[in-house]
Amino acid sequence: MSQLADISHIAIIMDGNGRWAERRGLSRTDGHVEGVSTVVKIVKRAAERDVKFLTLYTFSSENWKRPQKEVEFILQLPKKFLFQYLPELMKNNVKINILGDIRQLPYSTREALKHAVRKTAKNDGLQLNFALNYGGRQELLKAFEEMKAAGDDVTEDHLEKYLYTAGMPDPDLLIRTGGEKRLSNFLLWQMAYTEFCFSDSLWPDFSVEEFDAAIDEFAVRHRRFGGL
Ligand code: FPP
Repeated sequence: MSQLADISHIAIIMDGNGRWAERRGLSRTDGHVEGVSTVVKIVKRAAERDVKFLTLYTFSSENWKRPQKEVEFILQLPKKFLFQYLPELMKNNVKINILGDIRQLPYSTREALKHAVRKTAKNDGLQLNFALNYGGRQELLKAFEEMKAAGDDVTEDHLEKYLYTAGMPDPDLLIRTGGEKRLSNFLLWQMAYTEFCFSDSLWPDFSVEEFDAAIDEFAVRHRRFGGL
């Protein structure tokens, strides 16, 4: 029954790393390291469940306000993650893509990301989108600027061409962990019709079983409304 969910795009706000660490008397950065382990599990599961797009809110345009040491630490994580897991991602046919303005990221992180995007470009399994230095309002302003510069009429189709998600379906399901119930400037345009699932689990505690349950719950909601 759990295989029936027709779900092509899942977006996740991975919240709660800091609290997870603080509750254990660890440093917040330990929480982010543990958060990477959850990313590994969930990416694998999403691929198994035939999800086509998985978009992870990894660093928002607002996250620069955190202490510099934490910012630096988070911005090294994509590089470390790719160094360790790129071979496995290749094996699992995962294609990597970035949403956001990566020009402000550290040089070595940018290079690691570009390398991963190039290397996985021909993979046609799960597309894994890392939202990095991403903000929904900033994305919309960028899109309007580019639309204006191109002399396009203002239409939904034209606007969508200039979003980071051009060519992708809108998210079917948003999962937010960590107990907060807000959108935090994530995919504002794209989530106009998205179903929301809020979990009280902190991201390092978020399990494959909970992920499966969120997909199954989506399938039920879909069936209920689809028939009307
Ligand atoms: C929110 O938790 C989490 C972040 C801002 C960072 C998210 C990053 C990861 C999960 C790891 C990145 C993974 C890869 C593969 C690059 P928080 O720190 O706001 O937690 P809190 O609300 O408990 O303080």
